[in-house]
Amino acid sequence: MIGLFDSGLGGLTVVRRLRERLPDADLLFFADQANVPYGDRDPEELYRLLSANLAWLDAQGVAAIAIACNTSCAIAERYGWPSTRAHVLDLIDSAATIVQRARHRRIGVIATAATVAAGSYGRTLRSAVAGAEVWEIAAPALVPLVESGDVASARARDAVAAACAELPRDLDAVIYGCTHYPLLEAHFREALPREVALIDPAVMHAERAASLHDDGERKESGVTRYVTSGDLERFRSNVERIMGELRPRAERIAPLEPTVVFPETIEG
Ligand code: DGL
Repeated sequence: MIGLFDSGLGGLTVVRRLRERLPDADLLFFADQANVPYGDRDPEELYRLLSANLAWLDAQGVAAIAIACNTSCAIAERYGWPSTRAHVLDLIDSAATIVQRARHRRIGVIATAATVAAGSYGRTLRSAVAGAEVWEIAAPALVPLVESGDVASARARDAVAAACAELPRDLDAVIYGCTHYPLLEAHFREALPREVALIDPAVMHAERAASLHDDGERKESGVTRYVTSGDLERFRSNVERIMGELRPRAERIAPLEPTVVFPETIEG
């Protein structure tokens, strides 16, 4: 079984990619909607949430964890990964592999405020691709729009356009640096010049998950278990809408209690 987590509905864009690539795998997705959005929180809090989410997935017996939250990957890149039993797949590494293969040089990243503040995309892409130039833009308005289901409105279109307007026009590619953003794809396509490639790191994530999974040769049944720490009925209807699944196996758990505190390591 492969585990995934995010602060909310964005993680479903990663579940969708994994499901396309691995129709028979068992997936367990945790949306920490009691704490969404993550992108406005400080590094210490994010590190504690990351540790709690990893520990919970570990305890469910997953063999691998495909992180479905860029903000958590950015914090881990900056402050280190909490230890886990399961193999962890990092979304920022997946994005870097796509950029390397396509030989992009001028790259925009649109992400949450916490991801941009951590600077992890810039560091990772510059060390993976010689001569890479990276522009990181925070778009804190987008996650609340997606969580409230307000994706088709003029407000959503304008918020995406405002974020894209902060980037140079002559880029090779723009990366969705937050898993919520592929749910606003039509607006991104409209706001960016046609020649600019739009990169969803989850595409490579699914490739990497598939090669891990194939190695395991386990017999599984292709079930996805959807778990939220927020409102179950709203979550269930969003899963139905976004995943196109009728009567998804959805459940609620109480918000996790983070136990890890790193008062000295996590500073500023
Ligand atoms: N979807 C997440 C990400 O990829 C987190 C968004 C948020 O909660 O701010 O960064």
